[in-house]
Amino acid sequence: MLSGVAAYADSASDLSVRSLAASCAACHGTDGNAVRATAMPPLAGLSREYFLRQMQAYRDGTLQVPLMQQIARGFDAAQTEALAAYFERQHPAP
Ligand code: HEC
Repeated sequence: MLSGVAAYADSASDLSVRSLAASCAACHGTDGNAVRATAMPPLAGLSREYFLRQMQAYRDGTLQVPLMQQIARGFDAAQTEALAAYFERQHPAP
């Protein structure tokens, strides 16, 4: 259970990760729920491990998707971790 200062710090970091995640919405949909008709993979509900593995693969060029390579390289390790935790918590649309 979080209380006091910890709860406050948690909500503050939640706000900042939500603003980072908002930059993904244009392609991956609101809260990572991509529109089904598009080829965009949804991010909602991806496991943290999988998310981090894909982001690393974009960063090091193992996965050659120029858009995502640029995006992945724009975040430091802490931000990438925060995004992984955020999208893991989102519920995939039915
Ligand atoms: C301009 C469009 C665009 C934006 C903005 C964008 N992405 Fe992507 N992303 C893509 C495309 C296209 C792919 C799929 C590439 C493929 O088919 O392999 C992808 C794939 C991914 C994947 C791999 C998904 C999977 O199932 O393997 C992750 C993780 C990801 N993006 C994270 C992010 C995050 C986090 C953000 C925001 C910080 C973001 N993306 C913003 C276009 C975008």
